Amino acid sequence: MTPRHEIGVVSDFVAGAARQVIVAGHPVCVVRTGDGHLHAIDDTCTHADVSLAEGDVEGHTIECWLHGSRFSLDTGQPTGLPATVPVAVHDIEIDGERVLVALKEKTP
Ligand code: FES
Repeated sequence: MTPRHEIGVVSDFVAGAARQVIVAGHPVCVVRTGDGHLHAIDDTCTHADVSLAEGDVEGHTIECWLHGSRFSLDTGQPTGLPATVPVAVHDIEIDGERVLVALKEKTP
């Protein structure tokens, strides 16, 4: 079973914003969308090595701040160029107020 890591409580994550969290030494971009859903994806843009958590959240997508690639927070798939490779999507769950992340075994 993949270990789950506690990364904080729900109120630590502002709706409509992204934040980088280090999970077991791995940078993860955690997003709480405007509709209240929490998402966890790899925090490294697949186009170049920059943090996606510094990008803009729009609906269930995040836009990389450097060249404007968009990634689905649900699937990790790029929905806008120049990136063509998906980012890994990690499991995230809420237990009471606690937020837990389980890293995918292997990133794409
Ligand atoms: S580094 Fe993210 S789109 Fe280029």
